[in-house]
Amino acid sequence: MTTPDPREWCRDAIRVLEADANRSADTHLHVFPLPPEWGIDLYLKDESVHPTGSLKHRLARSLILYGLVNGRIRKGTTLIEASSGSTAVSEAYFAQMLGLDFVTVVPRSTSAEKIRFIEFYGGRCHYVDDPTQIYAEAERLASECSGYYLDQFTLAERATDWRGNNNIAESVFAQLVAERFPIPTWIVVGAGTGGTSATFGRYVRYRRHETRVAVVDPENSAYYEGWKSGRTDYTTGKPSRIEGIGRPRVEPSFIGDVIDEVLPVRDAASLAAIRVLRERTRHWAGGSTGTNLVGAFQLIARMLAAGERGSVVTLICDGGARYEATHYNDEWITSQGLDLAPERARIDRFLATGEWDLA
Ligand SMILES: Cc1ncc(COP(=O)(O)O)c(C=O)c1O
Repeated sequence: MTTPDPREWCRDAIRVLEADANRSADTHLHVFPLPPEWGIDLYLKDESVHPTGSLKHRLARSLILYGLVNGRIRKGTTLIEASSGSTAVSEAYFAQMLGLDFVTVVPRSTSAEKIRFIEFYGGRCHYVDDPTQIYAEAERLASECSGYYLDQFTLAERATDWRGNNNIAESVFAQLVAERFPIPTWIVVGAGTGGTSATFGRYVRYRRHETRVAVVDPENSAYYEGWKSGRTDYTTGKPSRIEGIGRPRVEPSFIGDVIDEVLPVRDAASLAAIRVLRERTRHWAGGSTGTNLVGAFQLIARMLAAGERGSVVTLICDGGARYEATHYNDEWITSQGLDLAPERARIDRFLATGEWDLA
């Protein structure tokens, strides 16, 4: 009896992932309504409509393809990750599609909602008490079971094709070609792994666009100080309240050299902004989208003050339904010691006057 050629399984696995991509439509690019006399257009790339509900759908597919083409993922390989969030949900979806076991290392504080979502796609959660131990524990689990550590924080910038191949940047520029300002002045994104900002930063340089890339950073995160000081070893040791973005350390996939600006954003402002978004557009998004919006508003106010016209693009990263118990729950907001009212007033004043007071 001939032993099956492992390459055959790998070929079929890549076919299955390609077929899934082929069945999926591209995500929309919505307009956020601004006063037309401003001469500035704001666009929202809606990544919440991916089959697994977030921008991480793209990354998860790329990370698994990267493991397959490197010969590290084979029939029966257990896939391991360190993520309690969107990435784990998307990786569980693809692992299930390939008939592979998926285990993700998560802090014991992870919300029941997130756990249920990961388990819905057949994933298993492995708990650690100390959130800073997720990386080491994932590596240990992978070597213990001869599994493969997908390692989003290290490999996100390597696994994503920054030249194109329908990456998020190529998709955005393709969807802007018929607009009055097809080459945006700014692209504003948050950073978890840093993979999304690296993709945009590299793509605009590769395509020789003048577009600048800004990263918005929530409280407790290491990216703002790390980027400003050029220190890749900068740490805060504290977790972020805005799920998906902000990290206790500067992650390996954060490529500071392709980022033109990092803007610190208060968590209360992020959470006020998603309420404004829902009221003005009916889009229901998670907190990291609010952080993006606040950054975009600040940069638009700066453009207006300089008499600049143009377009700005940011992301809807995931849907609001995941955050009913947190970002959209007033008791949770109060329990976090957050007061949204002054931030709400600042946003409303900006949308009425175009001025953003930085106080
Ligand atoms: C909801 C959400 N927003 C934004 C991001 C940031 O993306 P990246 O990891 O590419 O920096 C993430 C990443 O996990 C996320 O889950």
